[in-house]
Amino acid sequence: MGRKTKNCSFPSCRLPAVSLAVWLGALLVLSGCGGKDHSLRVGAALYTQDDTFISAMAQNLEGIVREAESETGKKITLFIADGKSNQSTQMDQVDRFLARGCDVLCVNLVDRTAAAVIADKAEAEGVPLIFFNRQPVAEDIQRWDRIYYVGADAKESGALQGALVLEAWEADRETLDRNGDGVLQYVMLEGEPGHQDSLLRTEYSIKAVTDGGVEVEKLANETANWNRAQAAARTAQWLEEFGEGIEVIFSNNDDMALGAIDALSNMPRSRWPLIVGVDATAPALEAVAAGQLYGTVHNDGIGQAQAMMALALALWNGEDPAQAVDLWEGHYVWLPYRAVTLENLEEFLAE
Ligand code: BGC
Ligand code: CA
Repeated sequence: MGRKTKNCSFPSCRLPAVSLAVWLGALLVLSGCGGKDHSLRVGAALYTQDDTFISAMAQNLEGIVREAESETGKKITLFIADGKSNQSTQMDQVDRFLARGCDVLCVNLVDRTAAAVIADKAEAEGVPLIFFNRQPVAEDIQRWDRIYYVGADAKESGALQGALVLEAWEADRETLDRNGDGVLQYVMLEGEPGHQDSLLRTEYSIKAVTDGGVEVEKLANETANWNRAQAAARTAQWLEEFGEGIEVIFSNNDDMALGAIDALSNMPRSRWPLIVGVDATAPALEAVAAGQLYGTVHNDGIGQAQAMMALALALWNGEDPAQAVDLWEGHYVWLPYRAVTLENLEEFLAE
């Protein structure tokens, strides 16, 4: 019954030219669809639960599902699968969600290039699909009108991170420009290769600084795959190589910025470079409070989870998703980023 129940609630369902009332009556009898008597089943596939931001998002989703249940009085079942960084494992999980009759799929791709295959499976079953955090290319999103992407604009996070560094440079250049050459020497800790957030944060953070008229010199850049321990190892190497020649450490996310801080922990604070991250995870906010991390950029995981659930409910109820969320080009929901420093930290700690 799962499939009929699902399909008949969507406006895209094609009905032959028989009186609509007759068809609706028949469908109600056959599937009980008008009453929506089964629970909403959402399958969420994570690229890995072993990622600070993603595991927090999974918790956010669980919390929001409970809230939505008590607000709507409807039962919502959330299945969560951990892809363990393996795309074929994730494919099996998606197949299982479909076989179980999930009404909506939320997919955080392991490999962004696998989007088309998943999109086609979902379309074949008539199950709406929400990608999140790991953005497929536009062509894959446009394969079907029931495919969405919920995320945040990677360029914006890079630009905000760069603006933090530019501000710090302008406010206290004497301290930041340690060798006094007027050039900002930096290293870049990059996220996973090929991830939109790695590529665009790397590019736009530096662009914000150079657009601000500051000359920069890249001492080194390397991927640490979003990972704290890998970032600590890279930073330790760089400290050996460049010592206090590093004036700023740009990190594509907070976990890696915390790794850099781990590597610096034996060095007196007065000799640390300036460090900036992205996400505003709880431990990163603590590091801002402790003066170890100069700033970060809030990646709104709660807002993203809320948008996903609002979309899922609207699609399930056969409502126009554009009424439920701010939908851009019929497919995208963008949550804004916000810069965080000691100055506005309180606002974020309260969340
Ligand atoms: C976050 C990272 C996270 C990655 C996972 C990014 O948006 O900033 O912390 O590891 O997504 O895909
Ligand atoms: Ca310098």
